[in-house]
Amino acid sequence: MQFHLDYTDAATDARVGRIVTDHGVIETPTFMPVGTLGSVKAVEPRELSRDIDADIILGNTYHLFLRPGTDVLETAGGLHQFMNWDGPILTDSGGFQVFSLGHRATLSEEGVEFQNHIDGDKHLFTPETVIDIQRSIGSDIMMVLDECPAADVTKQYARTSNELTLRWAERCKKHFDATDPLYGHEQALFAIVQGVVYPEVRRESARALVDMDFPGYAIGGLSVGETHEEMYDMVEVVAPLLPTDKPRYLMGVGTPENLLENVARGIDTFDCVMPTRNARNGTIFTTQGRINIKNAQFTQDHTPIDPGLENPVSQNFTKSYLRHLQKTGEILGLQLASIQNLAFYLWLMKTAREKIASGDFKSWKDDIIPQITHRW
Ligand code: GUN
Repeated sequence: MQFHLDYTDAATDARVGRIVTDHGVIETPTFMPVGTLGSVKAVEPRELSRDIDADIILGNTYHLFLRPGTDVLETAGGLHQFMNWDGPILTDSGGFQVFSLGHRATLSEEGVEFQNHIDGDKHLFTPETVIDIQRSIGSDIMMVLDECPAADVTKQYARTSNELTLRWAERCKKHFDATDPLYGHEQALFAIVQGVVYPEVRRESARALVDMDFPGYAIGGLSVGETHEEMYDMVEVVAPLLPTDKPRYLMGVGTPENLLENVARGIDTFDCVMPTRNARNGTIFTTQGRINIKNAQFTQDHTPIDPGLENPVSQNFTKSYLRHLQKTGEILGLQLASIQNLAFYLWLMKTAREKIASGDFKSWKDDIIPQITHRW
């Protein structure tokens, strides 16, 4: 994997770059649609690549390990083959999901033991096993095992937890270096900066991980109950400590406004369930603002879902029709809404790239935020 930095904004810390993988080039800043179980819910891979220009998707080690399991993935030739997506894939390590979905997660130096959320069976994830599982998945970018504490833990807890996460990162790297990809394409391993909302712990985390020399860095432990200001403050603390020539990924973030504010602080990649999850409950993000498509005001609105986007879904289906589909529980309503919302997030990142390259990012950001956050 290589990272090329093409432009740096003069007025903010925003950057434009390219992450080059064996499955293709990811233009940054970018948004990664979430495909937890090897499926971006309600959206086919060819729609992602052909209609809305997604460069990369995200999968989850925790979920894929439980179902279908590494035996099925290995026989299929890896997740790319299994799900018929030939673009880049990033997998989260499972650490975060064990704590949020698993039962009775118990931490030790060795790893994290948990009961899965499906049949309650016990498992142990260690820094080594999550590397092995991500080798079986065949993701282009793997993540280290980490602990992601809640936003309200004490500084002492944050520091002790971070020290464990640092030891795990070292073990992950060692095991990564000692093992080989299974399917002939290169895989890279990214580190995760933790430290809750404590600047000092965040700095300790970032400095130690930078010393370990990973090819990319994520900022984790945000969007877990802290305020938006605290999130922005933590990104401002961490981003300047990260190497400029390596990609930066803010995990699990966020709203369209969060994306732009963090692009301005030097973040290159994002993932979040918000566009797909909200689509399924009727919240539609458009270039003109955010709407609840189930509202009566759209009953007779026969204008395109979003005239500001070029893909066939936003252009060729109307708000009235999408409302009808969602009100009647038609599966197509979930599909069209998911494509619209992902198309919007990807448009936002594409436009950010163009504005950074042309030197207009800051004024565009300040103008577009009120427009896209407006509710009608
Ligand atoms: N997804 C969102 N936040 C996190 C985090 O802190 N760690 C991991 N592994 N995944 C995340």
